[in-house]
Amino acid sequence: MTASFLRRVRVAEIEPVASRIKRFRLVSTDGRPLSEFSGGSHITVCMQSPDRLIRNPYSLMGSPTDPSSYQISVLKVDDSRGGSHFMHDRVEVGTELQISEPLNLFPPAKLARKHILVAGGIGITPFMSMMSELDALGADFELHYGVRSLGEGAYCRLLQTHYGSRIHVYAQDNGELVPLERVLGSQPLGAHVYVCGPKPMIDWALRTATLAGWPDENIHSEQFAAPPAGKPFAVKLARSEREITVGGHQSILEALEQEGIDAPFLCRGGACGQCETGVSACDGYIEHNDHYLTDAEKASGKKIMICMSRISGDSITLDL
Ligand SMILES: Cc1cc2nc3c(=O)[nH]c(=O)nc-3n(C[C@H](O)[C@H](O)[C@H](O)COP(=O)(O)OP(=O)(O)OC[C@H]3O[C@@H](n4cnc5c(N)ncnc54)[C@H](O)[C@@H]3O)c2cc1C
Ligand code: FES
Repeated sequence: MTASFLRRVRVAEIEPVASRIKRFRLVSTDGRPLSEFSGGSHITVCMQSPDRLIRNPYSLMGSPTDPSSYQISVLKVDDSRGGSHFMHDRVEVGTELQISEPLNLFPPAKLARKHILVAGGIGITPFMSMMSELDALGADFELHYGVRSLGEGAYCRLLQTHYGSRIHVYAQDNGELVPLERVLGSQPLGAHVYVCGPKPMIDWALRTATLAGWPDENIHSEQFAAPPAGKPFAVKLARSEREITVGGHQSILEALEQEGIDAPFLCRGGACGQCETGVSACDGYIEHNDHYLTDAEKASGKKIMICMSRISGDSITLDL
């Protein structure tokens, strides 16, 4: 991602939509229309906190056919490193922010006979634009949305009003869980399933779909989770002969950025492949937290996705 890929927006509206979730409407600051996007896309929001530039991805929720403004919803997380708290506590109507152009790593499959959308908590956000797109196309879809309680689930009523019986909400505090086995067992051949939510839910849904005989290419997921923290380690840059330290709660990409070193990225979530970097040496083992490299590539120890993965050891030498 480069500066030309970024643009300024102003916050035009902020609405609390559930306990700990706020919706933000962003408009262009220079009168130029915002770029069109497709269902499932996200943008990266840049936030200048006192000690660092935070760059967090957030899914676009509005209608893809109406790029007059962008809408995102942000959950305030407990173990935040700053981004979600910045959006909740420091951003007001009128605040200007820098955002990236939209990127879609979670699009609905064009040829699917039916789309089964499975959301957990804040994982509802990419489905908002996806449903809008599918509805406009007249495509067959249904949403299964698990929330902790109805008070914590965002947009339940709005979705039920808009899409009627295609929306199924399950509140955990009422003892309700998404009945995924049953849902997946009654779909037509050619249906695709999409999951977004907390990591355990995604793992469970992927396992359930595979066990139910769904082909890999019909199963899609997007994970919001951050990689696990670890111990600090050194990164040696083979080409520039520099050395930097990566903190325990920091990615290699973030440590490079902090030192003013440009490194490519798009999704910052281990999915797009943009930050793939060659490894020339590593004195420990690489903890691969991405969903991009193949098992064989991971086992080779020759590549690392620097937005998500770290090492268990003292130092790694990268082809940078
Ligand atoms: C494609 C995509 C779309 C998303 N869409 C949404 C959305 O629509 N709404 C929404 O609320 N959220 C969304 N997210 C999540 C969002 O980007 C942030 O992760 C979330 O808001 C929390 O940010 P934070 O800055 O508060 O905390 P984070 O920086 O995410 O930190 C949370 C925890 O993770 C740990 N951690 C984070 N990064 C690292 C690291 N590199 N190394 C070690 N530990 C680390 C921290 O120590 C902390 O414990 C999305 C994420 C992705 C990848
Ligand atoms: S930036 Fe997309 S995989 Fe790292």
